[in-house]
Amino acid sequence: RTVYVNGQFVPEEDAKISVFDRGFLFADAVYEVTSVLGGKLIDFDGHAARLDRSLKELGMGMPMSRDELLEIHHRLVEANGIEDGLVYLQVTRGAADRDFAYPAEDTPQSVVLFTQSKPGLANSPQADQGIRVASLPDLRWDRRDIKTVQLLYPSMAKMEAKAKGADDAWMVEDGVVTEGTSNNAYIVKDGKIITRQLGTEILHGITRAAVLRFAREAQMKVEERTFTIEEAQAADEAFVTSASAFVMPVVEIDGEKLGDGTPGPVARRLREIYLEESR
Ligand code: PDD
Repeated sequence: RTVYVNGQFVPEEDAKISVFDRGFLFADAVYEVTSVLGGKLIDFDGHAARLDRSLKELGMGMPMSRDELLEIHHRLVEANGIEDGLVYLQVTRGAADRDFAYPAEDTPQSVVLFTQSKPGLANSPQADQGIRVASLPDLRWDRRDIKTVQLLYPSMAKMEAKAKGADDAWMVEDGVVTEGTSNNAYIVKDGKIITRQLGTEILHGITRAAVLRFAREAQMKVEERTFTIEEAQAADEAFVTSASAFVMPVVEIDGEKLGDGTPGPVARRLREIYLEESR
C-alpha cells in the first residue's frame, strides 16, 4: 500500500514518523475519515471544513491548502486502486522534545494519509441485520466536537460493549445519550427522527448533517434534542451514522429489542437516500 507522509508518497513499510511526534506522545493531533464509494470521495468538502475547525480550536496550523489535500486524497485512491473504502488523514503539531507546553510555531507539523480498502462497503450485511448497542457512561473529555486522536475511551467502550454481547456502545452522560463510540445516535418515534442537538458534547458528524438535510428534503420530521436510554428502548427504531457506517440500523439497546428486532423503515430509507445522493 502507498501512504502519504510529510510530502512523500511511499510504500507503507518505508513511512517514518518521529518517536517525538506529539501525536504519538500527547495525542496532540486531529484526524478525518472520508469514505470512498465507486472510487469517489464522499463529502470531502465537509470533512475539510471540519478539519479546519478542529485545527482552529486547538490553535494548530495546517501546512497545506485544501486543494493540495484533495489532490493527495485523489492520488492515494488512485495509487491503491480503491473502489470502496476510506481515506484516513491525520495532522499533528509535529515533533519536539517532550514538553507539555506546545513547541515553537515554526515546528514542522506531521501530515499522514493512508487508505483502507473495504470492498462492498455500501452492501454491508450488517446493515440488513442491524447492530446491538449497550449503554456505558461517557468518560471522554468535554470537547468532543474537536476530532482529536484521543480515542482510548471510545476504544475501551467498544470492547466493553462487545464483552456484553453488543456490537457498539451508546455513551450516556447526565442521564442522556451523547453518541456512539464512533458515530452519531438517533431514534425514531411516530415517524419523527430524534437526534441530539450539536454542542461540545458530541462530534458534529458530516454524515449527520447530510442525513438530516436529506430527511428534511424528503419531508420527514426531525427533532434535535437529547433522549434517554429508556426513551430509546421504547422508540420504534434507532440508527447511527458515520462516514464508515453511513446509516446503520440499531435493533437492540441493552438487550431490549426495538419493535420486531429488525431494521426499521425510516433507517432503511435514509440509508438508501444517503447512498444514492452521495454517489
Ligand atoms: N468516526 N461521533 C464520533 C465520536 C465519531 O468518531 C464519528 C466518526 C462520528 C460521525 O462523524 P462523521 O459522520 O463525520 O463520520 C460521530 C470516524 C468514522 C472514525 O473515527 O473512524
